[in-house]
Amino acid sequence: MTTSAARELVLVGDDATVDLGRRIGRALAPDRGGVVALSGNLGVGKTTFVKGLAEGLGVAEARDVVSPTFTRVIEFEGPVRLVHVDAYRMKGPGDVIELGLDEALAGAAVVALEWPEIVEGALPADRLTIAIGHVSEGRRSVRVEAGGPESVAWFARVDWPEAVA
Ligand SMILES: Nc1ncnc2c1ncn2[C@@H]1O[C@H](COP(=O)(O)OP(=O)(O)OP(=O)(O)O)[C@@H](O)[C@H]1O
Ligand SMILES: [Mg+2]
Repeated sequence: MTTSAARELVLVGDDATVDLGRRIGRALAPDRGGVVALSGNLGVGKTTFVKGLAEGLGVAEARDVVSPTFTRVIEFEGPVRLVHVDAYRMKGPGDVIELGLDEALAGAAVVALEWPEIVEGALPADRLTIAIGHVSEGRRSVRVEAGGPESVAWFARVDWPEAVA
């Protein structure tokens, strides 16, 4: 069985970042959860991606998705529960357990988590990792990686955007 997959993309403008999130959200199979780890520097577009993800999952409009910087966790109810986590101010994996996120991470919800490096030990290997890089003011590079069978199946269902020259 294939247990990993990866793809690299260039995103021009924040709409392209929202669009990628939307495509990945739409590709989640019914009655499934999953973990999306969003890595990349401050202000690179992690929350922007979650705006699209929420729309693709059918749980919120893009404008209703704001950064969980201060609250650390924002949840959306819908066809599937979306748990948006910002680990920036966390100390380590223990904070994730303390917040009661282990059940969601075990598959009961979609967990979109910014700053995965900080809580790495609490995250499953079978997840999508979206690594966003700053290319220029209006351009981002993205590597999407699936690390296990469930996330590979999710990855394989994605209708990917056209490549940018
Ligand atoms: N592909 C893109 N091209 C140009 N700008 C983009 C792109 N994607 C997102 N942006 C812009 O970059 C900024 C990213 O802000 P966002 O809050 O999403 O970043 P973040 O990675 O979540 O930051 P933080 O680490 O503070 O949580 C926004 O101004 C957004 O419009
Ligand atoms: Mg953010």
